[in-house]
Amino acid sequence: MIHLENQIVFITGASSGIGAACAKIFANAGAKLILAARRYDRLQEFAKTLNLQADKIYLLQLDVCDRAAVESTISNLPPDWSNIDILINNAGLSRGLDKLHEGDIQDWEEMIDTNIKGLLYLTRYVVPGMVARNRGHVINLGSIAGHQTYPGGNVYCGTKAAVKAISEGLKQDLLGTPIRVTSVDPGMVETEFSEVRFHGNKERAKKVYQGLTPLTPDDVADVIFFCATRSPHVNINEVILMPVDQASATLVNRRI
Ligand SMILES: NC(=O)c1ccc[n+]([C@@H]2O[C@H](COP(=O)([O-])OP(=O)(O)OC[C@H]3O[C@@H](n4cnc5c(N)ncnc54)[C@H](OP(=O)(O)O)[C@@H]3O)[C@@H](O)[C@H]2O)c1
Repeated sequence: MIHLENQIVFITGASSGIGAACAKIFANAGAKLILAARRYDRLQEFAKTLNLQADKIYLLQLDVCDRAAVESTISNLPPDWSNIDILINNAGLSRGLDKLHEGDIQDWEEMIDTNIKGLLYLTRYVVPGMVARNRGHVINLGSIAGHQTYPGGNVYCGTKAAVKAISEGLKQDLLGTPIRVTSVDPGMVETEFSEVRFHGNKERAKKVYQGLTPLTPDDVADVIFFCATRSPHVNINEVILMPVDQASATLVNRRI
C-alpha cells in the first residue's frame, strides 16, 4: 500500500461535493493538498474546516475551462508545491435535461468546456512533470453516464463517454512509465450536482434523490482513496459504483 504522507494531491472542483470529500480523506492521510475551484470564498471557508497547517494546503482560484490560466497556474506553482503526485480531475457539471433537438447550446458549451476540455488542460500541463519525475497518478471523475446514455442526458453523457475514452487513451500513452490512470465512475451521488444541472432549482434537484438512498460524496472519496493507495504496480483502471437503490442510469428503487 502507498502512504500518502506529504504527497501532493491536486484536486479540481474542491469547493463542493466529491472534490471536498476527497480533500478531507487525503488530508487525514497526511497529504499536501492543492485545492482549486472558481468560488474562492467557498474554497477558503471549506479549507478552514480542514484545520491544516499552512504548509499542508494551497488554494487556487481556477476556472479549468481557461486554458491560459491552467497553463500559467501549473507552471507558476511555488517549488514546494510543483511536484504533483496525484491529480484528481473532479471539476465537472451537468446542465439541463432537455431533448437534444431542443437543447440550450450554451449548456452544451459549458459541459464540453468543463468536463472534457478542462480535464484535458489539467492533464496536459500536469502529466509532463509526472513523466519527468517518473511517478504520479491521474484520477478522473467519469460517471455511469459515460457507460449508459439516459433520456435527456445526451451531451452530458457524451462528455463522460469522452472522459472514459481519454482515461483509456492516457493509460495507453503512459505505458512504460510507472504513472497510473484511473477513472472513477459513480451513479447517483447527492451533491450540488442536480442543483447545478437545474440552474439553481432546489426543489427539482431534491426530487432526483427522493425516496432513495443515494451515494454520499464520502462514499466516492473512499473509493478514490482506495485506488490511490494500492501497491505501486497495481493500476485500478475503472470503478463503477452505484447506490444499492440504483441498478442503471434509469432504474432506481424509490420508496414513495
Ligand atoms: N453527483 C453525481 O451524481 C455524480 C455522478 C457521477 C459523476 N459525477 C461527477 O463528479 C464530479 C464532481 O461533481 P459533484 O457531484 O461533486 O458536484 P458539485 O457538488 O456540483 O461539485 C462540482 C465541483 O466542480 C467545480 N467546478 C465546476 N466547474 C468548474 C470550473 N469551470 N473550474 C473549476 N471548478 C469547477 C465546482 O466548483 P466552483 O463552482 O466553485 O468552481 C464544484 O466544486 C463531476 O465531474 C461530476 O460530473 C457526479
